[in-house]
Amino acid sequence: MPVNSPAPSPASSSNVEHSSRSTPVLQRNRLTLEYRLPASASNAPNAADGGQDVVFGLTQTPKSLPPKYFYDDRGSQLFEAITTLPEYYLTRTETQILLQDADAIACRVGACDLVELGSGSSTKTRILLDAYARQNTPLRYVPVDVSGGILEDTARRLIQDYGDLSVHGLVSTYEAALADLPATDLPRRLIAFIGSTLGNLSPQHCEQFFQQVSQALQPGDYFLLGVDRHKATARLEAAYNDSQGVTAAFNLNMLHHLNWRFQGDFDPGQFRHVAFYNEGDRQMELYIESLQDQTVTLKALDLTVTFQAGERLLSEISRKFEIAPLTADLLTHGFQMVETFTDDQQDFALCLCQRI
Ligand code: AVJ
Repeated sequence: MPVNSPAPSPASSSNVEHSSRSTPVLQRNRLTLEYRLPASASNAPNAADGGQDVVFGLTQTPKSLPPKYFYDDRGSQLFEAITTLPEYYLTRTETQILLQDADAIACRVGACDLVELGSGSSTKTRILLDAYARQNTPLRYVPVDVSGGILEDTARRLIQDYGDLSVHGLVSTYEAALADLPATDLPRRLIAFIGSTLGNLSPQHCEQFFQQVSQALQPGDYFLLGVDRHKATARLEAAYNDSQGVTAAFNLNMLHHLNWRFQGDFDPGQFRHVAFYNEGDRQMELYIESLQDQTVTLKALDLTVTFQAGERLLSEISRKFEIAPLTADLLTHGFQMVETFTDDQQDFALCLCQRI
């Protein structure tokens, strides 16, 4: 049950206590924030993140690291910069599709709890919120993000900008959120996973994820999925090798992030950005390549790793989808494709599916 507690002073988030799971600590009329992260899983700078995934990835052959390590403050800023690059068509295309089709989505789905996985600053989601507001259709927004600071700031802005909107923010991983979605009074749920984040999941991970989404929903509920589409290699490779070098900086920033988080001594100048399209697997692959033989130590992890000149560490996959196999795959998890919204060039797709 939601618990009312005194409102914290608006300027400071440090007043917001971290509650135990499913005990909201802050509810002012239309705003509830619920913390479900153990301190160890938090994205906070000082969180004692285990880093076991880093140890695992750096001691495998070939080496790899989870893309979540892109996103310290500088990494998030660099990603924002990527979204406006001329070569990086993804964000602007998805925005166009939303502007074109948000009304159709709102009209089809109707009154709902909109649960957004990885909501961030909710910029694109506002287009959907606008459509609901125009149609005067009831909606509660349930943004889910591991980044508590961004989630709280965004939620506060949204209730200011949307006079009728209630927001129930979950500071949580996707898994913990999906395992126990907040109860709703509205007739159905819409789970949104936009921004092509699905592309970061391996096929096996993707199957697990679809299963979790499917289990979280009731028949009749909806799932809105934003995916980048398979296309000519040259355009894909340009999008991840921009002429201003922002993507290279974003990729190599992962090393700065690891240095800071785990007391490391990576010299990013001794590595370079590599990105190419693996056509067989339909995925962009981003690597951090060592320019020379070198040894790196991450003190906080008690880990020393050696790199050979030319050795590559996989920092991200970004899968590119084709609609027919994706539709078939979703069906195996109990999702019927209702409509695929796309742009004129068919670069990107927003797939609206219904749980059967
Ligand atoms: C945030 C996962 C959608 O895969 O295109 C952009 C991240 N990496 N440039 C993507 C990214 C390099 C992005 N996603």
